[in-house]
Amino acid sequence: NQAMHVLGIETTCDETAAAIVAPGEEGRGRILANEILSQIAEHAAYGGVVPEIAARAHVEVLDRLIARALDRAGTKLAQVDGIAVAAGPGLIGGVLIGLVTAKTLSLVARKPLLAVNHLEAHALTARLTDGLAFPYLLLLASGGHTQLVAVKGVGDYVRLGGTVDDAIGEAFDKIAKLLGLGYPGGPEVERLAEGGDPERFSLPRPMLGRREADFSLSGLKTALRIEAERIAPLSNADIADLCASFQAAVVDVVVDRVRVALRAFGAVAGHPTALVAAGGVAANGAIRRALTAQAGEAGLSFVAPPLALCGDNGAMIAWAGLERLRLGLVDDLTASARARWPF
Ligand code: KG4
Ligand code: ZN
Repeated sequence: NQAMHVLGIETTCDETAAAIVAPGEEGRGRILANEILSQIAEHAAYGGVVPEIAARAHVEVLDRLIARALDRAGTKLAQVDGIAVAAGPGLIGGVLIGLVTAKTLSLVARKPLLAVNHLEAHALTARLTDGLAFPYLLLLASGGHTQLVAVKGVGDYVRLGGTVDDAIGEAFDKIAKLLGLGYPGGPEVERLAEGGDPERFSLPRPMLGRREADFSLSGLKTALRIEAERIAPLSNADIADLCASFQAAVVDVVVDRVRVALRAFGAVAGHPTALVAAGGVAANGAIRRALTAQAGEAGLSFVAPPLALCGDNGAMIAWAGLERLRLGLVDDLTASARARWPF
């Protein structure tokens, strides 16, 4: 009775990734290979991801990454049980490259195709790493998405709130650009915030106290721009203080919105097993610390993937595919690539 192996392919944004995942102990997954090539260097000069450059870069490396993942896992395409791919949402050129590649492998090797929603894969990562049981409250925050979701089961999600303008990661990226920092902005802003004074600038906390669990980040970004322009030219200390003040405002907003979502959770999903953070922004230490404390006060554990699994990766796609395969939720060659795919 050989363990199920799933190949996962990720090409929706600026990381090209391929991984092999199998079921592990206590409901967790076992990552046998997790290959990733970031295109950050190729996009850095533009201060953001350029879709055409991204698509070309995926084409150039994807076949080699898949071969390397199979190699590292000590397996062959003929031995995997399914081929999972992120079929969206994302930059359509990149999504198409991953999907066409996965369809071809599925056809040639006669393996089931699993067309995975990239957001669902972020949402299920806490099960890959911690074997977490349903239902749980998920804060999904990345460069393109910010949502609070009751995760009730595979394919069973209730959205409790989301952003009405910018995603949290996008806000970090935009203020980084405004302050002349590198791309992606999140890690840079977090690093500089550590040496800054979070109380020097009083920035707004948009949506604080609202009854729905929604976010708004664009007013905060504008307020920061106005402060930066007011005191320009900026010294390094000014930049650190702006980063610290911005991050403190984001943390306050996140904690308040999570509080509202926790209150709404019971009516749609019962008692949560945990508070979970996922997506690139879940790598932020200040946000992780605040959510750990908040979960503790609510009598819940806080679960966030290790840093390597917070950002986009192939293992989360393989795992989501494995979860779907176990339930017989298999796709065929008519699966389409989706730039937008609500979840
Ligand atoms: O999930 P992800 O790798 O890609 C998307 O699907 O968007 O998330 C990338 C986003 C970027 O906006 C990046 O600035 C943000 O996550 N990010 C962070 C941190 N690390 C990455 N934001 C805040 N603090 C961080 N440490
Ligand atoms: Zn992502």
